[in-house]
Amino acid sequence: MDAFRLSGNGPLDGAVDISGAKNAVLPMMASALLAEGISEITNAPHLKDMKTMSDLLRVIGCRVFGGKNQLLVDTTGADHLEAPYELVKTMRASFYVLGPLLARFGRARVSLPGGCAWGPRPVDLHLKGFEALGAKVVVTHGYVETTAEKLRGANITFPISSVGATANVLMAATLAEGTTVINNAAVEPEIDATVDYLLSMGAQIEGRGSRTLTITGVEKLQPGKGATIPDRIEAGTFLAAGLISRGRVRVNKVDPQHLEAVLEVFREIGAQVSVGSDWVELDARDSDLQAVSIKAIPYPGFPTDMQAQLMSVLTTVPGISVIQDTIYNDRFMHVSELKRLGAKIELQGDTATIHGGSSLTGAPVMASDLRASAAMVLAGLVASSTTEISRIYHLDRGYENFEQKLQQLGGKIERFVEQ
Ligand code: EPZ
Repeated sequence: MDAFRLSGNGPLDGAVDISGAKNAVLPMMASALLAEGISEITNAPHLKDMKTMSDLLRVIGCRVFGGKNQLLVDTTGADHLEAPYELVKTMRASFYVLGPLLARFGRARVSLPGGCAWGPRPVDLHLKGFEALGAKVVVTHGYVETTAEKLRGANITFPISSVGATANVLMAATLAEGTTVINNAAVEPEIDATVDYLLSMGAQIEGRGSRTLTITGVEKLQPGKGATIPDRIEAGTFLAAGLISRGRVRVNKVDPQHLEAVLEVFREIGAQVSVGSDWVELDARDSDLQAVSIKAIPYPGFPTDMQAQLMSVLTTVPGISVIQDTIYNDRFMHVSELKRLGAKIELQGDTATIHGGSSLTGAPVMASDLRASAAMVLAGLVASSTTEISRIYHLDRGYENFEQKLQQLGGKIERFVEQ
């Protein structure tokens, strides 16, 4: 299995181009199922999760092809209305095909995603949304089986902000009879990206960017065409690499608006952050950094997907920092691995207290999930001597050319195959 070897190096210095967003391209790919024909997605990142979604669309009967960073999804042959456990268990976002298959074909059989490295990831809000649209939902033998003569518009209120449930129900509602109102919809940029893609298909959606989405169902949709928005979490991860190494990093081809909460925290810690129309530069050279207390909350707050990376940074900042993850109270698999590098962290439920400032020492560690892997790379960049990170297939799920981009910034990182 592939692993990374890092040797602690000095401050990073340089610029990288950010790829298209994993969490936008996945619902866009699923949306293609809502129409017959060839949908196009540009600025698509080359990621393991994208390959998994392509494999799933092929199992359903689609053709998936295209050039570099371009995806073409031909749904003409889509007739196998099922997402098998083997694929869904490797990527929870496979569940996104349920809404489109149900809306277009009137039935779908999708495996329950099961948990992930850091705990249960329920889908009850997705299922309640489909039932509200008139679908019959049966959960049996680890699969969700849904049928509906014709989905009917409904008034749906999510009790909590859910990106996946919002996207899944939104996609289904575009072909339902009548009007659907989704209240307390998630407002992450990836939801706006899904709305934009559906609009390119001829969907009728009001309220883009707000917590109330109103969808007027249509008879038929046309194949989609659109570009993937930049990946705000990849951008935040590289800026965090600049911060932890006390260097200077510029990320290009980003939407700075999507990073506001992250940049605010980096400034609070003490970095200089400058912003352009499509770039952000963080300068932490000769900066006097301060401990902070942060809560991961739904957008536009500080994102849970940056929680692990921020924790790595804070282990190197003198003082007592606190991170509470209100989205996933158990997303702390990286804590025990960071402690192997000498970090001093106490966990209490959904809150980690970091006694920062001690220097990290290199050691063999293990990646457990996508963002925890990134956190371990950040720590390995500044730990003394050598850090080896195994199971980095987790990282390949969500970062395109990760080590090449870090090397471009001066990072001493190499990929090798672990015997
Ligand atoms: C999306 O996951 C992202 N994944 C996650 O990114 C991200 O961490 C998460 O949103 C939160 O921002 C993709 O977009 C592919 P949710 P999702 O539904 O949709 C609870 C990464 O690292 N919930 O917004 O699964 C849930 O347990 C990944 O790129 C229910 O209770 O997240 C959580 O506490 C990791 N019932 C909260 O809602 C449901 O039916 C928010 O989850 C659905 C969710």
